[in-house]
Amino acid sequence: MSVEPLRLEAGRLLLLDQTRLPREEVWVEIHGAADMAEAIAELRVRGAPAIGIAAALALAAEARAPGGGDRLETLERAGRTLIGTRPTAVNLSRAVERMLGVARSSRADPEALEAEARAIWEEDRAASRAMATHGADLFRDERRFLTHCNTGGLATGGGGTALAVITEIARRRRGEVEVWATETRPLLQGARLTLWELRREGIPARMVTDSAAAQVVQTRAIQGILVGADRIARNGDVANKIGTLTLALIARHAGIPFVVVAPESTLDPGTPNGSGITIEERSASEVTHLQGVELAPEGVPAENPAFDVTPAGLVSAIVTERGARRGPTYDFAPG
Ligand code: MRU
Repeated sequence: MSVEPLRLEAGRLLLLDQTRLPREEVWVEIHGAADMAEAIAELRVRGAPAIGIAAALALAAEARAPGGGDRLETLERAGRTLIGTRPTAVNLSRAVERMLGVARSSRADPEALEAEARAIWEEDRAASRAMATHGADLFRDERRFLTHCNTGGLATGGGGTALAVITEIARRRRGEVEVWATETRPLLQGARLTLWELRREGIPARMVTDSAAAQVVQTRAIQGILVGADRIARNGDVANKIGTLTLALIARHAGIPFVVVAPESTLDPGTPNGSGITIEERSASEVTHLQGVELAPEGVPAENPAFDVTPAGLVSAIVTERGARRGPTYDFAPG
């Protein structure tokens, strides 16, 4: 069973603090939207679908919390705060807008809001299952894959996006799949989270530095690169974790498929192309420091874009719960 980033237990909303993985598994209680906004901003919960679900559950918790004043106004304000925490993943604003729509039509009824949050969660769980099947169907004989960041159960409401596809391929070709996971500088989601998930699944996996990817793809006969997405523009440009564009270029050079796996809730038809996607800029200290230790000369300026945009032309296929849309650049074996 895949790992879950969130739990509802006897009316309590609990979150697995991903900043502490893999060293320790600590569940923290979230009492309302302010707690969740802090948790999302600090990446205690992260991954595009998971932060949408987390925000929805937090708004439901907020509606239940005791307190006076206009509850709808409180929820609207909380929704704006949650959306502001991470601008790139469209799943977050979409889930919040959906919850606020229910809040308006139900006069902020806590039960209606909890039902909606659970529906968003369940839809993503079902999407994970469908994406795993459609994605695995693309690969007939391939066994050696490289992936980036964390796109497993920790990042979604179900088994994941790209990592769920790899897990499904491993299930189909029992014992024959090997995975290379990039460490994913600067916050190390690949090293800390993906390798932890793959070990739980019993899938052989190795960690590589981000900058080793080209060498590894060329010398280890990698047969496919699979990643998730935070927002996909109308023309198919893909915003995903910083370093994704480099991997797409490597895949093109090596002549192997570069596959993006994301639920329909990550598609953003309102943004015509990647240039319209806001890229989250995070604190420079995440780059200049490693666990509190300064790496560079004191005060060195640094840039820390959290995502990049891969042009649609470099994407071999986009897999959603509805199926795979193949691009013109790679010939998958006929299905
Ligand atoms: O900054 P993060 O850890 O939230 O970034 C996550 C990613 O970039 C994932 O690839 C993306 O959200 C898709 S995961 C299902």
